[in-house]
Amino acid sequence: MAETQRLTRAVLTGLGTYLPARVVTNAEMAKRIDTSDEWIVERTGIRQRHFAAPHETAAFMGAEAGRAALTEAGLAPEALGAIIVATSTPDQAFPSTAVHIQAALVAFNAFGFDLSAACSGFVYALSVADAMLRAGQVKSVLVIGTEVYSRILNFADRGTCVLFGDGAGAVLLEAKEVPRTGPGLLSTHLHADGRLAEILYVDGAVGRKDHPGHLVMQGREVFRHAVTLLAGAVNEALAANSLSPADIDLLVPHQANRRIIDGVGKKLGLPPERVVVTVDRHANTSAASIPLALASAVADGRAAPGKLLLLEALGGGLTWGSALLRL
Ligand code: UT7
Repeated sequence: MAETQRLTRAVLTGLGTYLPARVVTNAEMAKRIDTSDEWIVERTGIRQRHFAAPHETAAFMGAEAGRAALTEAGLAPEALGAIIVATSTPDQAFPSTAVHIQAALVAFNAFGFDLSAACSGFVYALSVADAMLRAGQVKSVLVIGTEVYSRILNFADRGTCVLFGDGAGAVLLEAKEVPRTGPGLLSTHLHADGRLAEILYVDGAVGRKDHPGHLVMQGREVFRHAVTLLAGAVNEALAANSLSPADIDLLVPHQANRRIIDGVGKKLGLPPERVVVTVDRHANTSAASIPLALASAVADGRAAPGKLLLLEALGGGLTWGSALLRL
């Protein structure tokens, strides 16, 4: 009876990514600022990042990733219900990045909006899309993470400017009736603590001509909170679904620092081959990092239909959360 029971779930039917052509190695960063490949690799695991050219805006990259996701799903743009764009580097204060992407995709039956939750943006956006799909508000949602952090980096601060990169990733989620053991988002868990706002923030705003803002971070403080809070969100996801770490096929973490990723993997007791790492190639692409990591795991064959993935992220806010997704 329980196995035959069907329920509405948000099922991933398409995935797309976009990375700027320009690759900036640690050696190139070391020519510009007082740093070294050794320091960056040892402290973060980062070896290179992509930096956007002037035409590669958040909307441009998000549209490229979104188009690829729609194509993979075989969904016509006019059939799309909604677009949610997780970004903290929008091109304008308004209109939203989402409406620019809607126009680029010719998806005129979709409504859209941006969601601001820094590096947790993609997990937050998945959660909102999941609720909209299960409530029957729309049949499909394009969830996009797109970021151009190179435009908000302070290149006079070597403690932050080596850590971030640009890129975009998108998933198409569609409402489908599936068996309990079938694919889709099983749960999402979101958290925020505004008391920690001052340890990671942008000291300006898109709307401020005099100072659009630079990223400011107390790295050690963020690090201190990261592993504990992420492990909490991950355990919450497992408990809510009566699962144990052994049930997880793949951890798809936000890619901020190799040491944080390994720390969470270790707490779960997962072997390295069940933890996706792309921070070496992409650095921290904030809201884009999880879909980029997911695409990498699809490409190497680890993320395949039927696999159970645990997604987690933490970022400015602080905000953090987790999502369990069966492909
Ligand atoms: O996605 C959003 C969430 N963000 C994160 O999760 C980031 C969390 N934090 C981190 O990943 C780490 O704290 C960092 C990678 C940012 C820094 O690593 P750390 O091991 O905490 O280093 P630190 O900030 O304590 O700095 C250690 C030393 C300092 O020198 P002194 O004071 O010990 O002489 C820094 O000045 O490393 C120095 N340093 C650098 N040296 C070479 C800082 N940045 C650099 C650099 N190159 N780029």
